[in-house]
Amino acid sequence: MTNDPYALATDAADALKSAVGVESFDVALVMGSGWVPAADAIGETIAEIPVTDLPGFAPPAVEGHAGRIRAVRTGSDKNALIFLGRTHLYEGRGVEPVVHGVRTAIRAGVGTIVLTNAAGGLRPETQEVGEAVLISDHINLTGASPITGATFVDLTEVYSARLRELAREVDPSLAEGVYVAFRGPTYETPAEVRMCRILGGDMVGMSTALEAIAAREAGAEVLGISLVTNPGAGLVGTPLNHEEVLQVGRATAARMGGLLAKVVDRI
Ligand code: 6GU
Repeated sequence: MTNDPYALATDAADALKSAVGVESFDVALVMGSGWVPAADAIGETIAEIPVTDLPGFAPPAVEGHAGRIRAVRTGSDKNALIFLGRTHLYEGRGVEPVVHGVRTAIRAGVGTIVLTNAAGGLRPETQEVGEAVLISDHINLTGASPITGATFVDLTEVYSARLRELAREVDPSLAEGVYVAFRGPTYETPAEVRMCRILGGDMVGMSTALEAIAAREAGAEVLGISLVTNPGAGLVGTPLNHEEVLQVGRATAARMGGLLAKVVDRI
């Protein structure tokens, strides 16, 4: 097996295509915490495999039935890949497993990546728990990058304005905001949350930014959507817990699934 992450993604894409019996894919969705129950709305399942059947994927550390890849045929006759769960930087395996799914999907033909996540809301004045927010840009405070060496990738428009517009055609009430990515696994301190607000952040989380960078490097278009599952620490006074994040996902699954299905149909 190769230790070049790009060649490893090509190997994984070949293994994925033969495992699910599909020649090429059009779109991939990464379902973050709280989004997994929304996956069923996206299309008819063709096949579903554990990520560990493919080269380069790490077994998942947290989250219900995470760590599976579902191949789906959508209502608009697109082949979609749905990642039910993702690898996070805080799992300690480094950056490469974090972005391996995105790289694999792109090598399997995908030109559009939908990245979803659960996030803390930094603007409780205007945001509601259970609200979906389109990611307009990010601030990467993970201290990591999926790219090594002198490869200077332009990040002027990481999150496609065209895809955000298309999502707003489906739901004109969707707000947009800047996602601040931390390594985790701790939630932020109240002082860090205040810092993020001063920096221009609107949501805070532990994923998405590195995958979006890897997708842009490989030339795919990215749509990012945060599900605001709780206000950031110190903004309202109640402590945060992971169960609450998953619970908000279960409560909003039908709405988020409907949104994703309609967006994917229009891509
Ligand atoms: Cl408040 N912070 C981070 N980093 N991730 C989260 C979150 C907060 N709420 C849900 N996911």
